[in-house]
Amino acid sequence: MNTIYKSVDAGNIDQSVIKEAGQIVRRGGLVAFPTETVYGLGGDALSPSSSKKIYEAKGRPSDNPLIVHIADMDDLDRIAENIPKAAYALADRYWPGPLTMIFKKKSVVPSETTGGLDTVAVRFPSHPVAQALIKASGGYIAAPSANISGRPSPTSGDHVRQDMDGRIDMIIDSGPCDIGLESTIIDLSTDVPMMLRPGFVSAEMLRQVVGELDTDPAVFHKAGADIRPKAPGMKYRHYAPKGKVAIVSGNRDDVIRYIRDKIDGNKGKVRTAVLSDSEDAGQFKEADLVADMGERSDESAIASRLYDMLRACDDENIEEIYSEEFNTPQLGQAIMNRLIKAAGHNTIKV
Ligand code: TXA
Ligand code: MG
Repeated sequence: MNTIYKSVDAGNIDQSVIKEAGQIVRRGGLVAFPTETVYGLGGDALSPSSSKKIYEAKGRPSDNPLIVHIADMDDLDRIAENIPKAAYALADRYWPGPLTMIFKKKSVVPSETTGGLDTVAVRFPSHPVAQALIKASGGYIAAPSANISGRPSPTSGDHVRQDMDGRIDMIIDSGPCDIGLESTIIDLSTDVPMMLRPGFVSAEMLRQVVGELDTDPAVFHKAGADIRPKAPGMKYRHYAPKGKVAIVSGNRDDVIRYIRDKIDGNKGKVRTAVLSDSEDAGQFKEADLVADMGERSDESAIASRLYDMLRACDDENIEEIYSEEFNTPQLGQAIMNRLIKAAGHNTIKV
């Protein structure tokens, strides 16, 4: 398939591109598009065959449901039912934005889109290009992150091109994503709301609106017989580069010493990368790749660089990746959740 590339300025949207993209989606095709979190791989959410195409293009298991994106609050109750008051309070505060809410689904949403579940995940993104495309496509776009299943989510048009060239009809490139980590997911289909995936909207921010909040144990613990993630996507090895990732924690000097020892031991044998804050980056010059994540005081920079850095490790054929911990105040849960998954829970305390 020949993939069409279009660059769209979010501040001055070329409506002819949006119209063309909307037609592609309405006719059952796939368009990758920017959102404020990560790039999405969009198809008509109400069409079973479009959803099937999305799974194929991503190489994604079909039991892993898709998020339905809307661009108008009035469109919510056509696809969801039993919408609790808390949902409207959350929407007031965080929609449009990086928050996904799960409800009981209405029958108009095909089970292909929800991976066979009787619930549907809904998000109203804030990115103007995303909103324009959703409207031009009929109001409902199913979109997972636009990466090949298992790879880090794409946070730039180039990332999407690397993964989706030749697999989908069109890619809309509007430059790097603001946040760079996927939306927070909250399940509102149960009595007590449950956070299934942390994101820019932290557990604390959710609690301020909904009161009592559970967190799916799978967010930080290894899935197994006793821990089954409620978001099916969280059970797969995810966010992962090809190299083996280890998260090293402890006091600063010990962490630096441990990682430097690893770099020394690997020199000339195993290609090694380090994910480090700016302050420590100079300590790891001997590594094959030093990914400078930014200042610890600038957590949004750290979050927005993470996937790009993990992809850079692949580009450099890195075999071992050592990462410092990034337990920052608001985004720390989301950053560490992705890192822990990338590391397959391989954490080293020194
Ligand atoms: O920021 C985002 O959410 C991005 C952009 C494109 O909007 N999308 C995204 O989609 O991250 P995806 O498919 O990569 O991740 C969606 C996650 C998966 O882990 C999936 O299992 C979960 O949401 N999910 C979707 N519908 C669900 C449902 N009904 N119940 C439980 N989990 C659900
Ligand atoms: Mg994804």
